Amino acid sequence: MKILLKGGRVIDPSQGLDQVLDVLLEDGQISTLGQGLSTQGAKVIDCQGLLVTPGLIDMHVHLREPGEEWKETIASGTKAAAAGGFTAVACMPNTKPPNDEAEVTRYILEKAQKEAATRVYPIACITKGQKGEVLTEFGELKQAGAVALSDDGRPVPEAAVMRLALEYAKNFDLPIISHAEELSLSEGGQVNEGLASATLGMKGIPAEGEAVAIFREVMLARLTGTPVHIAHVSTKLGVEIIRKAKKEGLPVTAETAPHYFTLTEEATFGYNTYAKVNPPLRSAEDRAAVLEALADGTLDVIATDHAPHSDLEKEIEFELAAFGLIGLETALPLTLKLVSEGVISLFRAIELLSTNPARILRIPGGTLKPGSPADVTIIDPERKWVVTKEDLHSKGKNSPFLGWEMSGQAVFTIVGGEIVFSRG
Ligand code: DOR
Repeated sequence: MKILLKGGRVIDPSQGLDQVLDVLLEDGQISTLGQGLSTQGAKVIDCQGLLVTPGLIDMHVHLREPGEEWKETIASGTKAAAAGGFTAVACMPNTKPPNDEAEVTRYILEKAQKEAATRVYPIACITKGQKGEVLTEFGELKQAGAVALSDDGRPVPEAAVMRLALEYAKNFDLPIISHAEELSLSEGGQVNEGLASATLGMKGIPAEGEAVAIFREVMLARLTGTPVHIAHVSTKLGVEIIRKAKKEGLPVTAETAPHYFTLTEEATFGYNTYAKVNPPLRSAEDRAAVLEALADGTLDVIATDHAPHSDLEKEIEFELAAFGLIGLETALPLTLKLVSEGVISLFRAIELLSTNPARILRIPGGTLKPGSPADVTIIDPERKWVVTKEDLHSKGKNSPFLGWEMSGQAVFTIVGGEIVFSRG
Protein backbone atom coordinates (compact mmCIF):
# COMPACT_ATOMS: atom_id res chain seq x y z
CA MET A 1 0.00 0.00 0.00
CA LYS A 2 1.38 3.37 -1.06
CA ILE A 3 0.18 6.77 0.13
CA LEU A 4 1.48 9.96 -1.43
CA LEU A 5 1.15 13.09 0.70
CA LYS A 6 1.24 15.76 -1.96
CA GLY A 7 2.41 19.33 -1.59
CA GLY A 8 2.17 19.84 2.17
CA ARG A 9 4.44 21.99 4.29
CA VAL A 10 6.70 19.36 5.79
CA ILE A 11 7.99 20.22 9.25
CA ASP A 12 10.51 17.74 10.59
CA PRO A 13 12.82 19.04 13.31
CA SER A 14 14.80 15.77 13.27
CA GLN A 15 16.07 16.71 9.78
CA GLY A 16 15.89 20.47 10.14
CA LEU A 17 13.15 20.48 7.49
CA ASP A 18 10.53 23.17 6.86
CA GLN A 19 9.71 22.92 3.16
CA VAL A 20 6.86 22.21 0.74
CA LEU A 21 7.46 18.60 -0.31
CA ASP A 22 5.74 15.36 -1.29
CA VAL A 23 6.09 12.44 1.11
CA LEU A 24 5.70 8.88 -0.10
CA LEU A 25 4.69 6.20 2.39
CA GLU A 26 5.27 2.65 1.32
CA ASP A 27 4.89 -0.67 3.16
CA GLY A 28 4.41 1.06 6.48
CA GLN A 29 7.55 3.16 6.19
CA ILE A 30 8.52 6.62 5.07
CA SER A 31 9.92 5.92 1.63
CA THR A 32 10.83 9.17 -0.14
CA LEU A 33 10.68 12.93 0.42
CA GLY A 34 10.92 15.13 -2.65
CA GLN A 35 9.29 17.43 -5.14
CA GLY A 36 6.95 16.22 -7.89
CA LEU A 37 6.98 12.57 -6.79
CA SER A 38 5.08 10.19 -9.06
CA THR A 39 1.54 9.46 -7.96
CA GLN A 40 1.47 6.13 -9.77
CA GLY A 41 -0.05 3.29 -7.80
CA ALA A 42 -0.50 5.47 -4.74
CA LYS A 43 -3.48 6.78 -2.84
CA VAL A 44 -2.95 10.53 -3.07
CA ILE A 45 -3.78 12.94 -0.25
CA ASP A 46 -3.73 16.56 -1.33
CA CYS A 47 -1.86 18.35 1.45
CA GLN A 48 -1.73 21.84 -0.03
CA GLY A 49 -2.17 24.37 2.76
CA LEU A 50 -1.67 21.63 5.36
CA LEU A 51 1.21 20.74 7.65
CA VAL A 52 2.82 17.31 7.37
CA THR A 53 4.67 16.38 10.54
CA PRO A 54 6.12 13.32 12.25
CA GLY A 55 3.33 11.62 14.20
CA LEU A 56 2.69 13.39 17.48
CA ILE A 57 3.67 11.44 20.59
CA ASP A 58 2.06 11.97 23.99
CA MET A 59 4.38 10.59 26.63
CA HIS A 60 1.96 11.10 29.54
CA VAL A 61 -1.51 9.59 29.25
CA HIS A 62 -3.82 7.73 31.63
CA LEU A 63 -5.72 5.06 29.69
CA ARG A 64 -7.39 3.66 32.85
CA GLU A 65 -7.29 0.08 31.62
CA PRO A 66 -7.12 -2.31 33.37
CA GLY A 67 -9.54 -1.56 36.16
CA GLU A 68 -11.34 1.73 35.53
CA GLU A 69 -12.88 1.13 32.14
CA TRP A 70 -15.86 3.36 32.92
CA LYS A 71 -13.45 6.30 32.73
CA GLU A 72 -11.50 5.27 29.62
CA THR A 73 -10.29 2.17 27.80
CA ILE A 74 -7.30 1.48 25.62
CA ALA A 75 -9.70 1.61 22.66
CA SER A 76 -11.43 4.90 23.58
CA GLY A 77 -8.27 6.63 24.83
CA THR A 78 -6.29 5.83 21.70
CA LYS A 79 -9.26 6.86 19.53
CA ALA A 80 -9.13 10.23 21.30
CA ALA A 81 -5.36 10.28 20.75
CA ALA A 82 -5.73 9.64 17.01
CA ALA A 83 -8.43 12.32 16.77
CA GLY A 84 -6.02 14.71 18.49
CA GLY A 85 -3.26 13.92 15.97
CA PHE A 86 -1.25 11.54 18.15
CA THR A 87 0.17 8.40 16.57
CA ALA A 88 1.59 7.07 19.84
CA VAL A 89 0.90 7.39 23.54
CA ALA A 90 2.80 6.24 26.61
CA CYS A 91 0.40 5.15 29.33
CA MET A 92 0.97 5.72 33.03
CA PRO A 93 0.88 2.78 35.44
CA ASN A 94 -1.66 3.99 38.03
CA THR A 95 -4.28 1.54 36.79
CA LYS A 96 -6.12 -1.04 38.91
CA PRO A 97 -4.09 -3.16 39.40
CA PRO A 98 -1.12 -0.89 38.84
CA ASN A 99 1.33 -1.83 36.12
CA ASP A 100 3.92 -3.15 38.55
CA GLU A 101 4.26 -6.65 37.10
CA ALA A 102 5.19 -7.99 33.69
CA GLU A 103 1.79 -9.64 33.43
CA VAL A 104 0.03 -6.26 33.51
CA THR A 105 2.43 -4.78 30.95
CA ARG A 106 1.78 -7.73 28.65
CA TYR A 107 -1.99 -7.41 29.17
CA ILE A 108 -1.88 -3.74 28.10
CA LEU A 109 0.17 -4.55 25.02
CA GLU A 110 -2.05 -7.46 24.00
CA LYS A 111 -5.18 -5.33 24.40
CA ALA A 112 -3.51 -2.51 22.45
CA GLN A 113 -2.55 -4.90 19.70
CA LYS A 114 -6.21 -5.80 19.23
CA GLU A 115 -8.01 -2.56 20.00
CA ALA A 116 -5.77 0.49 19.91
CA ALA A 117 -5.93 3.10 17.16
CA THR A 118 -2.38 4.28 17.91
CA ARG A 119 0.83 2.77 19.18
CA VAL A 120 0.78 2.24 22.95
CA TYR A 121 3.93 2.27 25.07
CA PRO A 122 3.40 1.13 28.66
CA ILE A 123 5.19 2.89 31.49
CA ALA A 124 5.58 0.57 34.49
CA CYS A 125 5.77 1.40 38.19
CA ILE A 126 9.01 2.23 39.97
CA THR A 127 7.76 0.67 43.21
CA LYS A 128 5.40 -2.19 43.94
CA GLY A 129 1.85 -0.96 44.30
CA GLN A 130 3.20 2.59 43.92
CA LYS A 131 3.81 2.45 47.64
CA GLY A 132 7.29 3.95 47.42
CA GLU A 133 8.89 1.08 49.33
CA VAL A 134 10.05 -1.88 47.24
CA LEU A 135 11.35 -1.58 43.68
CA THR A 136 9.57 -3.49 40.92
CA GLU A 137 11.40 -6.01 38.70
CA PHE A 138 12.84 -3.57 36.16
CA GLY A 139 14.35 -6.26 33.91
CA GLU A 140 11.14 -8.28 33.65
CA LEU A 141 9.08 -5.16 33.01
CA LYS A 142 11.43 -4.03 30.27
CA GLN A 143 11.38 -7.47 28.69
CA ALA A 144 7.57 -7.40 28.77
CA GLY A 145 7.59 -4.11 26.85
CA ALA A 146 7.70 -1.27 29.38
CA VAL A 147 9.55 1.74 27.91
CA ALA A 148 9.98 3.75 31.11
CA LEU A 149 9.29 3.70 34.84
CA SER A 150 7.22 6.08 36.95
CA ASP A 151 4.96 6.06 40.00
CA ASP A 152 3.00 8.88 38.36
CA GLY A 153 -0.04 9.95 40.33
CA ARG A 154 2.25 9.72 43.35
CA PRO A 155 5.86 10.65 44.04
CA VAL A 156 8.46 8.22 45.36
CA PRO A 157 8.52 9.79 48.83
CA GLU A 158 11.94 8.64 50.01
CA ALA A 159 15.06 9.96 48.38
CA ALA A 160 16.96 6.74 49.16
CA VAL A 161 14.39 4.65 47.29
CA MET A 162 14.55 6.98 44.29
CA ARG A 163 18.34 6.82 44.38
CA LEU A 164 18.22 3.05 44.28
CA ALA A 165 15.72 3.17 41.40
CA LEU A 166 18.01 5.44 39.41
CA GLU A 167 21.04 3.25 40.03
CA TYR A 168 19.10 0.13 39.09
CA ALA A 169 17.45 1.71 36.03
CA LYS A 170 20.84 2.53 34.54
CA ASN A 171 21.51 -1.19 34.03
CA PHE A 172 18.30 -1.59 32.06
CA ASP A 173 18.50 1.66 30.09
CA LEU A 174 15.00 2.59 31.26
CA PRO A 175 14.10 6.28 31.63
CA ILE A 176 12.73 7.28 35.04
CA ILE A 177 9.86 9.77 35.05
CA SER A 178 9.31 11.66 38.28
CA HIS A 179 5.99 12.88 39.61
CA ALA A 180 7.64 15.62 41.63
CA GLU A 181 5.53 16.34 44.68
CA GLU A 182 6.41 16.76 48.37
CA LEU A 183 3.48 14.98 49.98
CA SER A 184 4.02 16.46 53.42
CA LEU A 185 3.36 19.90 51.93
CA SER A 186 0.60 18.98 49.46
CA GLU A 187 -1.44 16.54 51.57
CA GLY A 188 -5.07 17.63 51.77
CA GLY A 189 -4.51 20.48 49.31
CA GLN A 190 -7.11 21.18 46.67
CA VAL A 191 -5.86 24.11 44.61
CA ASN A 192 -2.81 26.34 44.25
CA GLU A 193 -1.71 27.90 47.53
CA GLY A 194 -2.15 31.65 47.19
CA LEU A 195 -4.93 33.39 45.33
CA ALA A 196 -6.95 30.22 44.69
CA SER A 197 -6.74 28.77 48.21
CA ALA A 198 -7.61 32.17 49.71
CA THR A 199 -10.47 32.82 47.30
CA LEU A 200 -12.02 29.36 47.58
CA GLY A 201 -11.29 28.89 51.29
CA MET A 202 -9.54 25.58 50.73
CA LYS A 203 -6.18 24.12 51.67
CA GLY A 204 -3.55 25.04 49.13
CA ILE A 205 -0.76 23.13 47.41
CA PRO A 206 2.34 25.37 47.51
CA ALA A 207 4.59 25.85 44.49
CA GLU A 208 7.52 25.33 46.86
CA GLY A 209 6.45 21.68 47.30
CA GLU A 210 6.97 21.01 43.61
CA ALA A 211 10.27 22.88 43.72
CA VAL A 212 11.56 20.85 46.68
CA ALA A 213 10.72 17.62 44.88
CA ILE A 214 12.29 18.70 41.58
CA PHE A 215 15.43 19.83 43.39
CA ARG A 216 15.69 16.41 45.04
CA GLU A 217 15.47 14.67 41.65
CA VAL A 218 18.12 16.97 40.21
CA MET A 219 20.43 16.11 43.11
CA LEU A 220 19.77 12.40 42.57
CA ALA A 221 20.49 12.71 38.85
CA ARG A 222 23.76 14.33 39.87
CA LEU A 223 24.54 11.61 42.41
CA THR A 224 23.75 8.67 40.15
CA GLY A 225 24.42 10.08 36.68
CA THR A 226 21.13 8.54 35.54
CA PRO A 227 18.72 10.63 33.45
CA VAL A 228 15.55 11.82 35.19
CA HIS A 229 12.54 13.19 33.36
CA ILE A 230 10.31 15.54 35.38
CA ALA A 231 6.60 15.19 34.63
CA HIS A 232 4.01 17.99 34.49
CA VAL A 233 6.10 20.99 35.57
CA SER A 234 3.76 23.76 36.72
CA THR A 235 5.83 26.32 38.63
CA LYS A 236 8.32 29.10 38.04
CA LEU A 237 10.44 27.75 40.90
CA GLY A 238 10.51 24.31 39.28
CA VAL A 239 11.44 25.74 35.89
CA GLU A 240 14.30 27.72 37.41
CA ILE A 241 15.77 24.64 39.08
CA ILE A 242 15.58 22.65 35.82
CA ARG A 243 17.16 25.51 33.86
CA LYS A 244 20.08 25.66 36.25
CA ALA A 245 20.49 21.86 36.24
CA LYS A 246 20.63 21.81 32.45
CA LYS A 247 23.21 24.61 32.44
CA GLU A 248 25.36 22.43 34.66
CA GLY A 249 25.00 19.58 32.18
CA LEU A 250 22.99 17.31 34.46
CA PRO A 251 20.90 14.62 32.69
CA VAL A 252 17.51 16.18 33.38
CA THR A 253 14.61 16.57 30.96
CA ALA A 254 11.12 17.88 31.65
CA GLU A 255 7.61 18.29 30.33
CA THR A 256 4.66 20.55 30.94
CA ALA A 257 1.02 20.20 29.90
CA PRO A 258 -1.22 22.51 27.85
CA HIS A 259 -3.34 23.42 30.88
CA TYR A 260 -0.31 24.88 32.67
CA PHE A 261 0.68 27.09 29.73
CA THR A 262 -2.91 28.09 28.90
CA LEU A 263 -4.76 28.49 32.20
CA THR A 264 -4.10 29.90 35.66
CA GLU A 265 -5.56 29.13 39.06
CA GLU A 266 -8.42 31.49 38.23
CA ALA A 267 -9.97 28.65 36.22
CA THR A 268 -10.80 26.96 39.55
CA PHE A 269 -12.79 29.95 40.81
CA GLY A 270 -16.47 29.05 40.91
CA TYR A 271 -15.39 25.59 42.13
CA ASN A 272 -14.95 24.25 38.62
CA THR A 273 -14.00 20.60 39.19
CA TYR A 274 -12.86 20.25 35.57
CA ALA A 275 -10.00 22.57 36.50
CA LYS A 276 -9.04 20.50 39.55
CA VAL A 277 -5.77 18.84 38.70
CA ASN A 278 -2.56 17.76 40.38
CA PRO A 279 -0.25 19.64 40.27
CA PRO A 280 -2.78 22.47 40.46
CA LEU A 281 -3.21 25.30 37.99
CA ARG A 282 -0.85 28.01 39.21
CA SER A 283 -0.42 31.78 39.21
CA ALA A 284 -0.05 34.03 36.16
CA GLU A 285 3.64 34.39 37.04
CA ASP A 286 4.09 30.61 36.98
CA ARG A 287 2.31 30.37 33.64
CA ALA A 288 4.59 33.06 32.18
CA ALA A 289 7.65 31.16 33.40
CA VAL A 290 6.38 27.94 31.82
CA LEU A 291 5.89 29.75 28.50
CA GLU A 292 9.41 31.14 28.65
CA ALA A 293 10.78 27.67 29.45
CA LEU A 294 8.99 26.15 26.46
CA ALA A 295 10.59 28.75 24.24
CA ASP A 296 14.14 28.64 25.62
CA GLY A 297 14.52 24.84 25.76
CA THR A 298 14.30 24.41 29.54
CA LEU A 299 11.19 22.31 28.97
CA ASP A 300 11.63 19.55 26.39
CA VAL A 301 8.15 18.17 25.92
CA ILE A 302 4.47 19.05 25.81
CA ALA A 303 2.55 16.05 27.21
CA THR A 304 -1.12 16.10 28.08
CA ASP A 305 -1.40 14.18 31.39
CA HIS A 306 -4.74 13.13 29.87
CA ALA A 307 -6.63 12.05 33.01
CA PRO A 308 -10.19 11.02 32.18
CA HIS A 309 -12.76 10.79 34.96
CA SER A 310 -16.50 10.18 34.80
CA ASP A 311 -19.29 12.35 36.19
CA LEU A 312 -19.21 10.13 39.28
CA GLU A 313 -15.80 11.52 40.16
CA LYS A 314 -16.27 15.05 38.80
CA GLU A 315 -19.88 16.21 39.07
CA ILE A 316 -19.61 16.41 42.86
CA GLU A 317 -18.36 18.80 45.55
CA PHE A 318 -14.96 20.27 44.72
CA GLU A 319 -13.25 18.77 47.76
CA LEU A 320 -14.45 15.28 46.90
CA ALA A 321 -13.80 15.49 43.15
CA ALA A 322 -10.89 13.60 41.60
CA PHE A 323 -7.80 15.41 40.31
CA GLY A 324 -7.26 15.39 36.57
CA LEU A 325 -8.47 16.63 33.23
CA ILE A 326 -8.47 15.30 29.69
CA GLY A 327 -6.12 16.69 27.09
CA LEU A 328 -5.55 14.48 24.05
CA GLU A 329 -7.98 16.29 21.75
CA THR A 330 -7.07 19.86 22.68
CA ALA A 331 -3.27 19.71 23.02
CA LEU A 332 -2.51 20.39 19.37
CA PRO A 333 -4.64 23.56 18.93
CA LEU A 334 -3.49 24.91 22.31
CA THR A 335 0.12 24.42 21.20
CA LEU A 336 -0.60 26.02 17.82
CA LYS A 337 -2.05 28.98 19.72
CA LEU A 338 1.41 29.54 21.20
CA VAL A 339 2.76 29.57 17.66
CA SER A 340 0.22 32.14 16.46
CA GLU A 341 0.93 34.27 19.55
CA GLY A 342 4.64 34.20 18.71
CA VAL A 343 5.71 32.37 21.90
CA ILE A 344 7.30 29.45 20.02
CA SER A 345 7.95 28.61 16.38
CA LEU A 346 6.08 25.90 14.52
CA PHE A 347 9.33 23.98 14.33
CA ARG A 348 9.69 24.11 18.10
CA ALA A 349 6.05 23.05 18.55
CA ILE A 350 6.67 19.83 16.61
CA GLU A 351 9.90 19.24 18.49
CA LEU A 352 7.96 19.48 21.78
CA LEU A 353 5.12 17.25 20.58
CA SER A 354 7.02 14.63 18.61
CA THR A 355 10.80 14.68 18.20
CA ASN A 356 11.69 15.14 21.86
CA PRO A 357 9.26 12.63 23.44
CA ALA A 358 10.56 9.98 20.99
CA ARG A 359 14.14 10.79 21.97
CA ILE A 360 13.49 10.79 25.73
CA LEU A 361 11.53 7.53 25.67
CA ARG A 362 13.95 6.04 23.13
CA ILE A 363 11.09 4.84 20.96
CA PRO A 364 10.76 4.82 17.17
CA GLY A 365 9.01 7.76 15.50
CA GLY A 366 9.39 11.50 15.92
CA THR A 367 10.94 11.71 12.45
CA LEU A 368 10.11 11.56 8.75
CA LYS A 369 13.51 10.17 7.77
CA PRO A 370 13.21 7.56 5.01
CA GLY A 371 13.16 4.06 6.51
CA SER A 372 11.41 5.13 9.71
CA PRO A 373 7.84 4.04 10.54
CA ALA A 374 5.17 5.85 8.50
CA ASP A 375 3.70 7.61 11.54
CA VAL A 376 2.54 10.96 10.23
CA THR A 377 0.15 13.71 11.31
CA ILE A 378 -1.46 15.99 8.75
CA ILE A 379 -2.68 19.19 10.32
CA ASP A 380 -4.97 21.95 9.11
CA PRO A 381 -3.63 24.84 11.18
CA GLU A 382 -6.54 27.11 10.24
CA ARG A 383 -9.41 24.74 10.91
CA LYS A 384 -11.81 26.33 13.42
CA TRP A 385 -13.78 24.18 15.82
CA VAL A 386 -15.49 24.38 19.17
CA VAL A 387 -14.82 21.91 22.00
CA THR A 388 -18.06 20.12 22.93
CA LYS A 389 -18.68 17.04 25.04
CA GLU A 390 -20.48 15.38 22.13
CA ASP A 391 -17.54 15.69 19.74
CA LEU A 392 -14.86 14.42 22.13
CA HIS A 393 -13.84 10.83 21.51
CA SER A 394 -12.53 10.24 25.01
CA LYS A 395 -14.96 8.68 27.47
CA GLY A 396 -13.88 11.44 29.85
CA LYS A 397 -15.58 14.77 29.22
CA ASN A 398 -13.69 16.56 31.99
CA SER A 399 -12.11 19.30 29.92
CA PRO A 400 -11.74 22.86 31.22
CA PHE A 401 -11.80 23.94 27.57
CA LEU A 402 -15.42 23.00 26.82
CA GLY A 403 -17.01 25.78 24.78
CA TRP A 404 -13.62 27.19 23.67
CA GLU A 405 -13.14 28.01 20.03
CA MET A 406 -9.96 26.36 18.79
CA SER A 407 -7.90 26.89 15.68
CA GLY A 408 -6.08 23.90 14.19
CA GLN A 409 -6.85 20.21 14.10
CA ALA A 410 -5.38 16.98 12.74
CA VAL A 411 -7.13 16.01 9.50
CA PHE A 412 -5.30 12.72 8.96
CA THR A 413 -3.53 10.59 11.53
CA ILE A 414 -1.43 7.85 9.96
CA VAL A 415 0.15 5.00 11.93
CA GLY A 416 2.48 2.56 10.19
CA GLY A 417 1.19 3.73 6.82
CA GLU A 418 -2.47 3.23 7.73
CA ILE A 419 -4.96 6.05 8.11
CA VAL A 420 -6.32 5.55 11.64
CA PHE A 421 -8.26 8.80 11.78
CA SER A 422 -9.46 11.35 9.25
CA ARG A 423 -11.94 14.20 9.26
CA GLY A 424 -13.80 16.29 6.74
O1 DOR B 1 -4.49 15.35 38.22
C1 DOR B 1 -3.94 14.27 38.12
N1 DOR B 1 -4.61 13.17 37.73
N2 DOR B 1 -2.64 14.18 38.41
C2 DOR B 1 -2.00 13.00 38.48
O2 DOR B 1 -0.83 12.98 38.76
C3 DOR B 1 -2.74 11.73 38.24
C4 DOR B 1 -3.93 11.97 37.42
C5 DOR B 1 -4.91 10.81 37.41
O3 DOR B 1 -4.48 9.67 37.30
O4 DOR B 1 -6.12 11.06 37.48
